[in-house]
Amino acid sequence: MLIVGSILFFIHIVALVAGGANSVVMPIVGARLATATPDLRAGFLDLAEQLAKVGKVAMGTLLLSGILMLWLRWDWVVPSAWFWVKMLGIVAMIVFISLNEMNAKKARSGDRDAGKRSKMFGQLTAVAFGVVILAAVFTFG
Ligand code: HEM
Repeated sequence: MLIVGSILFFIHIVALVAGGANSVVMPIVGARLATATPDLRAGFLDLAEQLAKVGKVAMGTLLLSGILMLWLRWDWVVPSAWFWVKMLGIVAMIVFISLNEMNAKKARSGDRDAGKRSKMFGQLTAVAFGVVILAAVFTFG
């Protein structure tokens, strides 16, 4: 089981990198979108959608590999209260990602205020992501 646990940890870290890259690249694409000409806008929107897909797969992989590791590496024993801070951060991330999705639909149908709000949701998701990583390091590090 040791090798399975280590492979799961490897997968957890790869997904962490893929998800984390998103929180760096998305704000850059978002800023370009705001001022892009209509033809460039279509390209940036496509890029943002592809990135969002990678982000969702990364999040799903983190959740699945995390739960499996808690079972196979930690036998369901929570090492410290920081673990619950991490879980709260994850819940916050899921809430902000869902709000951002609903908001993006409105933005695509021409709602300009929704376009402005998407930056705020991206920032809130990034802050929650930071809290999750910090709490993970204090929990298991
Ligand atoms: C957004 C979601 C997540 C992120 C960003 C994340 C991040 C991290 C990071 C950075 C570590 C390495 C900490 C260290 O070793 O110092 C870690 C380890 C770990 N995570 Fe996650 N995690 C996420 C979701 C989850 C979930 C949902 C669970 C379980 C319910 C979980 C369970 C674990 C376990 C058990 C380890 C320790 C592995 C070990 O050293 O044996 N993670 N996580």
